[in-house]
Amino acid sequence: MNVAGLAFGDWMKHVQSTMEDALSAFLPAASDVPERLHEAMRYAVLDGGKRVRPLLVFAAGDLFDADADLLARAAAAVEMVHAYSLVHDDMPCMDDDALRRGKPTVHVKYDEATALLVGDALQSQAFVVLSEGAAEANAERRLAMFRLLARASGSAGMCGGQAIDLDSVGKALSLAELERMHQLKTGALLHASVLLGALAGKSLTPAETAALDAYARATGLAFQVVDDVLDATADSATLGKTAGKDAADNKPTYVSILGLEESKALAETLRNDAHRALMPFGEKARRLREIADLIVQRKA
Ligand code: IPE
Ligand code: IPE
Ligand code: MG
Ligand code: MG
Ligand code: MG
Repeated sequence: MNVAGLAFGDWMKHVQSTMEDALSAFLPAASDVPERLHEAMRYAVLDGGKRVRPLLVFAAGDLFDADADLLARAAAAVEMVHAYSLVHDDMPCMDDDALRRGKPTVHVKYDEATALLVGDALQSQAFVVLSEGAAEANAERRLAMFRLLARASGSAGMCGGQAIDLDSVGKALSLAELERMHQLKTGALLHASVLLGALAGKSLTPAETAALDAYARATGLAFQVVDDVLDATADSATLGKTAGKDAADNKPTYVSILGLEESKALAETLRNDAHRALMPFGEKARRLREIADLIVQRKA
């Protein structure tokens, strides 16, 4: 298939279906002991989600003609960490949500202890997947990819952002504090996705890293700004998760601090920032540009 020639929508569907197969292959079979845990891991990851992080991995991989197997592994690894973060985010001790990706959340469908273990096991599985296959990348680059994903997942990344989020309930954060929280809880894994895809292709020069950093920061922040807007404006059926949850839980969000219209305007500004950051890459960055558009224009 001439993937490069596909219109964006078709390219997206192609990556999403490639990822569904890859994720299914990279997860333990539901018939493997312990069956219930493995079934719940598959339930959390498969058949749902927009796969934005894998899209970013593949789009960034396009820049440097990265090896397909390594890209699929990097994309699956970051999606597994993301899926784990959602399972834990929905648990009663965090956001206490019953709906995710249009289905009952893992702790509702199974139980809380299983949800905890699903998250734990998905995080480990992500690094197993990244460590196997793809003889292509040299050891130094592979190590850089591990470090990137580990840092983005931990207390200096997603977990750190989640901690700030939980600690901020009912508080009036400054805009700078809100941005920091968003950059960590959501931005970190999106940033890692871009860099993982690029690193799957080659070692990056400082200039390339800086350009991709700027793109990923703008896109990552835009993603959570739009998530906050949609939480306030879309319905649960469209989102596949409970709408209106942020206001109900008294969470500081872009909408609560800036208001709806200013939040939407900020997302547009960030989209322009993202496009500008990609200019050094020219036409090769087409998919990354299209993903920035998707992130800002999405309705779910
Ligand atoms: C939802 O992420 C949680 C946030 C980090 C804002 P997504 O909107 O990417 O969720 P899925 O993967 O499509 O379900
Ligand atoms: C969650 O942010 C971000 C992570 C899962 C790390 P939210 O709590 O806003 O995500 P949703 O809205 O439940 O998807
Ligand atoms: Mg949350
Ligand atoms: Mg939540
Ligand atoms: Mg949200």
